[in-house]
Amino acid sequence: NSGRGEGQREADGDAAIEAAAQALRRGELVILPTETVYGLAGDAANPQAVAAIFEAKGRPSFNPLISHVADLAAAERIARFDERARALARTFWPGPLTLVLPIAEDTAVSDLARAGLDTVAVRVPAHSTARALLARFGGPVVAPSANRSGRPSPTTYADAMEETGDKVGASLDGGPCEVGLESTVVALLDVPRLLRPGAVTRAELEAVIGPLAEAEVDAKRSPGRLARHYSPKAPVRLNATHAEPGEAFLAFGPGQHRWNLSPSGDLREAAARLFAYLREADRTDPVAIAVAPIPFEGLGEAINDRLKRAAGFVG
Ligand code: TXA
Ligand code: MG
Repeated sequence: NSGRGEGQREADGDAAIEAAAQALRRGELVILPTETVYGLAGDAANPQAVAAIFEAKGRPSFNPLISHVADLAAAERIARFDERARALARTFWPGPLTLVLPIAEDTAVSDLARAGLDTVAVRVPAHSTARALLARFGGPVVAPSANRSGRPSPTTYADAMEETGDKVGASLDGGPCEVGLESTVVALLDVPRLLRPGAVTRAELEAVIGPLAEAEVDAKRSPGRLARHYSPKAPVRLNATHAEPGEAFLAFGPGQHRWNLSPSGDLREAAARLFAYLREADRTDPVAIAVAPIPFEGLGEAINDRLKRAAGFVG
């Protein structure tokens, strides 16, 4: 991570990290950069803080949150790991993978953060600022994406501040998010299930633990799948070859366009730009946002999942 200004951020980072850790201890919320998207963070053990997150986002409280921790040892204090879970954690952590596991007997994660379930979603993020805060704070930190419910996830500090910056006691600027899409969510309760596709692809997961089952269409097991998600104000039209009059166009592949997700057809680049371009296009008040077809392989599964939700198709 050698972006411009990084040295400066690192130099004054420590005081900002300490201030953010103190805000968490007081039960306040924090804008938190991760490698996937910006999070709205709070102390997972403090039900008041968790309630403040649901309220700030306008998120239904039956939709449980992800607990973020500094490392596998900390994860094993809140969730019960079997050998498959450890294999995934060792391969992909720190990184954009969330595991849904049975809770540990004395888990610190509050009932409210789990929406009353006896399972917990846990991840160890890779972003250096997130890792520094988690190490300093010590306990699990819940952090849904920092958008208000139903809006695209923020992938820049400015977008995060615009969404929920007025609700927090501290905020950390970690630059633009490298991945740009939320973490992959895998449940290891009975057979392994892919609940949400993301930057860690199906093929990468299956190489470690074998075939993945589909998410059940069961609100108790994967509540997030039932909500309309990630939507800009303008309607979204998928698999478009060009823009109709008044439409904004998100292109993919060679060509001159104001918003080209990746002129070279690189899915990583497209994922990193997707939410920022949806927001930028939406600000021009188009009659619709037309999006070019994106291939389904690899990271394309996650990109198409988010686009389908942005267009209002769920399931
Ligand atoms: O990349 C990410 O994961 C970001 C960054 C900030 O870390 N966070 C994020 O959190 O996307 P959130 O709350 O927006 O998404 C959590 C997803 C939801 O789909 C939720 O339903 C699911 O994880 N989830 C959480 N706990 C669960 C549980 N116990 N069982 C099943 N699904 C769960
Ligand atoms: Mg979200």
